[in-house]
Amino acid sequence: MSLQDALTNEERLAELDVDALKQLVGLVEYDAGSDPFPVTGWDAAVWAVGNATQSAHFYQSAFGMELVAYSGPETGNRDHVSYVLKSGAVRFVLNGGVHPDSPVIAHHAKHGDGLTDIALEVPDVDACIEHARAQGATVLVEPHDESDEHGTVRLGAVAAYGDTRHTLVDRSRYDGPYLPGYVARTSSYRKRAGAPKRVFQALDHIVGNVELGRMNEWVDFYNRVMGFTNMAEFIGDDIATDYSALMSKVVANGNHRVKFPLNEPAVGKKKSQIDEYLEFYDGPGAQHLALATNDILRTVDALVEEGVEFLATPDSYYEDPELRVRIGEVRVPIEELQKRGILVDRDEDGYLLQIFTKPIGDRPTVFFEFIERHGSLGFGKGNFKALFEAIEREQEKRGNF
Ligand SMILES: [Fe+2]
Repeated sequence: MSLQDALTNEERLAELDVDALKQLVGLVEYDAGSDPFPVTGWDAAVWAVGNATQSAHFYQSAFGMELVAYSGPETGNRDHVSYVLKSGAVRFVLNGGVHPDSPVIAHHAKHGDGLTDIALEVPDVDACIEHARAQGATVLVEPHDESDEHGTVRLGAVAAYGDTRHTLVDRSRYDGPYLPGYVARTSSYRKRAGAPKRVFQALDHIVGNVELGRMNEWVDFYNRVMGFTNMAEFIGDDIATDYSALMSKVVANGNHRVKFPLNEPAVGKKKSQIDEYLEFYDGPGAQHLALATNDILRTVDALVEEGVEFLATPDSYYEDPELRVRIGEVRVPIEELQKRGILVDRDEDGYLLQIFTKPIGDRPTVFFEFIERHGSLGFGKGNFKALFEAIEREQEKRGNF
């Protein structure tokens, strides 16, 4: 199968092509024929939130996403409301409990706003589930068809870290707005004059935080069960500040669309940001979602305009002569990055620009990254220290450091 054929429907609808995806998310060619668990790409990031009706407004107004589908009591779903939003190839599904016994409410009570499901598009759900089961994974949902007037989807699900799951979706025989049970829905919300058409185009990676001592177990899970390969490894001084440390490894699917950095806390003098997450999320879960943009200056300006708050980067970061030498020439003047607090990192393949929001919910847990890649397939290793020091300043304000 050529790369062009392997574009997801969402990518085609978003008018992305292979070259754009190589640049945006580091897409690579690979032979799916020898992959025991072929994954085409992301299907959806599915959230449990405290108030999906209001979150749907936030992701439209602040993140520039577009409402495309809905399920709820009006469509026969008595348990919860569900809003489906898109930006480029990115799909978010926001679930909020309606009935007091809803599992969405239980998930939210335990974890706060967070990801319940990192759903992946696969060409063969049955083959993936069979392979996963043979490798000892917990199969949460057996492969089955769901149909409506738009066609048929085949679905199955396996358990991942904590209460997170991976639903596997084959939507090749379906052309509805999301899944059977959902109806198309648009919104009366209108973007401000001059706002960009899209603030971000694609999902780059989702980071999972797991318990102390269990990172390698989860790396092994993604290697063995899902056929992912290891991309990079950060241990020790690379990502330690004077006070806290973590360990991180990155796994990716064959074409590198789906990248999962996995963190575990490492012993430091004070409570690390991973420890803080694990305490307030009450266990392992998704820590941040990195959203790819091809114009991070415009993205950040649009988000700031709508009140989204980012971690501050100290001026000393930009004035450091070592940094200036390390990063060399980038496409924008460093002053423009400094004005917005955008971080820059370079490796042997190129460079990347990145910035991190403050936590988006009430708990100090889930946040977003925005990333603009220029050849680099990394994750901003050179920025980890500066970033963690910024997070520690926020932790200190919260009394969790
Ligand atoms: Fe990241």
